[in-house]
Amino acid sequence: MVRRITGFSKFSKEEKIDWLMKAFFEEKSISKETLKKYWNSDVKLQELHDDFIENTISNFYLPFGVAPNFLINDEEYTIPMVIEESSVVAAASLVGKFWSTRGGFKATVLGTTKVGQVHFMTKMTSKAVEDYFEEKKEDLLKATKAITKNMRKRGGGILAIELRDKTSDLENYYQLHVTFETKDSMGANFINSCLEAIADEFEKEGIQIVMSILSNYVPECVVRAEVSCKVEDLLPGSSTIDPTEYAEKFKNAVAIANVEPHRAVTHNKGIMNGIDAVVLATGNDFRAIESCAHAYAARSGRYKSLTNCEVKDGIFRFWIEIPLAIGTVGGLTALHPMAKFSLELLQNPTAEELMKIIAVAGLAQNFAALRALTTTGIQKGHMKMHLMNILNQLGASLEEKEKLVKYFEHIPVTHSGVQEAYQKLKTV
Ligand code: MEV
Repeated sequence: MVRRITGFSKFSKEEKIDWLMKAFFEEKSISKETLKKYWNSDVKLQELHDDFIENTISNFYLPFGVAPNFLINDEEYTIPMVIEESSVVAAASLVGKFWSTRGGFKATVLGTTKVGQVHFMTKMTSKAVEDYFEEKKEDLLKATKAITKNMRKRGGGILAIELRDKTSDLENYYQLHVTFETKDSMGANFINSCLEAIADEFEKEGIQIVMSILSNYVPECVVRAEVSCKVEDLLPGSSTIDPTEYAEKFKNAVAIANVEPHRAVTHNKGIMNGIDAVVLATGNDFRAIESCAHAYAARSGRYKSLTNCEVKDGIFRFWIEIPLAIGTVGGLTALHPMAKFSLELLQNPTAEELMKIIAVAGLAQNFAALRALTTTGIQKGHMKMHLMNILNQLGASLEEKEKLVKYFEHIPVTHSGVQEAYQKLKTV
């Protein structure tokens, strides 16, 4: 069987699928039908999605959920979330409601500066490179004037161009380190276009431009979100747990993540459950957000928690500081109907407002995880939510699902336990 192909991208969608079926699937496989079942019957809408990438053969659904009752800087929000993990939206909803009766979340944007770099090599002396840069600086800015025109009208543009001598790290290596304000757009295309224009202007004999590209590491595009309350208010009224002991335990959970990278990675993964879900729902680039967040978590030289906790003078404070390069205009934000819906649901936020909302979602998720981990453990809630997945896998009917959800209300959910209960139900 030949599984190599040239000219695949030129095939029609049907031809692509037919080739895949022939090369990788058995005759009479249901796979072709599965792929087609996920095509949207609205041809225009399907074409829109087909054109996002190359070689689209179908769509891949992820659930789109909402977490209501978030009070952020005294505004009420229902947060859209796209995620496959059973317990994430449920946890966010619980925590949103919990903090809405304790003053809500407070969030502040600490900076919005983005970064791009022209990386180049030269054997010229440092002094000669510096002199050349000084001589060229004005022209570099001039070379971007047409590209930055609209952005400047919106209050953004290039903030500074700096020459950085990196020869102590790598022989002959320098860079033009450029900082940007991109207002409500994430700005990737804008930044890259500016950098390429700068590079063209800067290039000359004896200078080898290696590459010009934005940096997804944006430690000065940072947002802070926090919650605080009296320690005695930290648990629901119905709880029998001692709040002071619980607050200390919670603080220790964060402290452990600060000294133990194995724990920090899982701790931050939980934060990213919330962050990525909103980033995806709003049509933003979750890979950029992920890579930056983890680099930021390691900025001290040790990979640490992105959240912090303090218990002082009877007050519990819990906060996150995270870089978030996102946009509310451009990219997929207006193009993807569901991203557009998400932004409308959030009352068409500015990029700064969306940074705050996303940081809150991350903080809420971490609060939910640490609360569960330091009290009941994570599996109880998680398996309750996962129950539906197991029942769907078993092919349970609506009526059977209802019965089994009721049955498992007061007993622990395990895969084998559900299987057994389902078989029993089937035989009565
Ligand atoms: C699971 O997706 C996320 C958690 O593991 C996060 C954590 O341990 O803090 C629950």
